[in-house]
Amino acid sequence: MKSIIVSVAVAAGLMVAGSAMADAPKEAGVCAACHNTGKSGGSVGPAWKDVAAKYKDDAKAVETLTANIKAGGHFGWKKAAPMPKNGSGPEANVPALAAYIMTLK
Ligand code: HEC
Repeated sequence: MKSIIVSVAVAAGLMVAGSAMADAPKEAGVCAACHNTGKSGGSVGPAWKDVAAKYKDDAKAVETLTANIKAGGHFGWKKAAPMPKNGSGPEANVPALAAYIMTLK
């Protein structure tokens, strides 16, 4: 009986660890040149956890981010260069990327 409890606890622990460490969608590789996408990446654009914090109280965050990622431009981050347009290539499932970003809050 004790070993069952232990193995259930271990499995639950693994599930929690797994969700906390969800990997970015593989499409995020093209974005990582400019963004810290969660674990690593560039600093030309804002770190995605900072983006998630900016939108944490916005019920339409995923829609807004999807539109902004596709359009490119400046969004108040005061970075030197604007973000280029994204999502025209097969690499970018933009709604999935927007949803992933909001898991980083
Ligand atoms: C060439 C560099 C570059 C690439 C590649 C890039 N971005 Fe950006 N991104 C930026 C910069 C710069 C900004 C901030 C612009 C500003 O407001 O000054 C930004 C801003 C953002 C924001 C914030 C939008 C907001 O509303 O605040 C999101 C989300 C984002 N990028 C997602 C992505 C995703 C997803 C990809 C890949 C599909 C990507 N970016 C690729 C440079 C890049």
